Amino acid sequence: MLQELESLEQGLMADIAAAADEAAIEAVRVGAIGKKGSVSEQLKTLGKMTQEERQVMGPAINGLRDRVTAAINARKAELRDAAIDARLATETVDVTLPVRPSPAETGRIHPITQVTDELTAIFADMGFSIAEGPDIETDYYNFTALNFPEGHPAREMHDTFFFPPGENGERKLLRTHTSPVQIHTMETQKPPIRIIIPGKTYRQDSDATHSPMFHQVEGLVIDRHANVANLKWVLTEFCKAFFEVEHINMRFRPSFFPFTEPSMEVDIQCDRSKPGEVRFGEGTDWMEILGCGMVHPNVLRFGGLDPDEYQGFAWGIGIDRLAMLKYGMPDLRAFFDADVRWLSHYGFRPLDMPTLFGGLSS
Ligand code: DAH
Repeated sequence: MLQELESLEQGLMADIAAAADEAAIEAVRVGAIGKKGSVSEQLKTLGKMTQEERQVMGPAINGLRDRVTAAINARKAELRDAAIDARLATETVDVTLPVRPSPAETGRIHPITQVTDELTAIFADMGFSIAEGPDIETDYYNFTALNFPEGHPAREMHDTFFFPPGENGERKLLRTHTSPVQIHTMETQKPPIRIIIPGKTYRQDSDATHSPMFHQVEGLVIDRHANVANLKWVLTEFCKAFFEVEHINMRFRPSFFPFTEPSMEVDIQCDRSKPGEVRFGEGTDWMEILGCGMVHPNVLRFGGLDPDEYQGFAWGIGIDRLAMLKYGMPDLRAFFDADVRWLSHYGFRPLDMPTLFGGLSS
């Protein structure tokens, strides 16, 4: 009997030593001291023994159980440590690797976003807030309320994208300018109004300097005494701040827009003697950059305001064109190609936010 126990112990000890992983040692444990394990079966035989037999076999079998249990626990701990060591070895971080650039280092802000942020900073400093309106407009807001008479040729000049007529026969359109937001604003805000309206605009036009989708920033001031002198001051201050020059010469030429009277186009003095480069604040050339004027009395009326009480001025500037001029980008189409090489060259670092005190473009 004792012999049998001894060979059982030897066999189990060999199995314990041979168990190569945590699953294997668990199998040995179940086979030895589990409910139907070989050692447990031995323990069960004690009940059928005589007193004398039990005095000898009791300590022998219990001793066997204790030694086997201790050996299993020790091997288990060993295998668990080995498994942790193996994981640590394979999951190490090589801290000698150079740190990969963070998204803030590789991502770039598109020049249109940058320029929009720059002009927002400038006009916000002058007390303007931002207004927005829908890209899909009705004929009323895009034309009629802006004093474009029915059948007037100025409507044709806008090369409008129309949607198919709806159930009531009305044809919606993609707004051809940001000016309709003037009307939306007059309908919802009481003067004094001092807003800029940056946004997307659409016309059927495509070449190096025209894209079917482009961006404008509209400005609108309505008050009891808003006048042309105020308009000139606002636009001159804007141009100096935007082009980051101390002095700039501007030329206000008479022009025509249905929604302003008088209407003007504004040129800024520049130097274009070097090919592919435009410098502002110097030179003898002129470049047109925006349209503006005093808000037409009919437009005030369409907006629900009394032209005998209120007057206003407004302007519209092409944001894409401002970006091309300021940052020397020759082809507008590249703006919308989504080419990362172009963006990493012309884009701006995301955390360098344009502010008047910190610098717009530096
Ligand atoms: N809406 C005009 C356009 O897209 C630009 C413009 C001109 C806007 C004069 C104005 C303005 O507010 O006063 O061509």
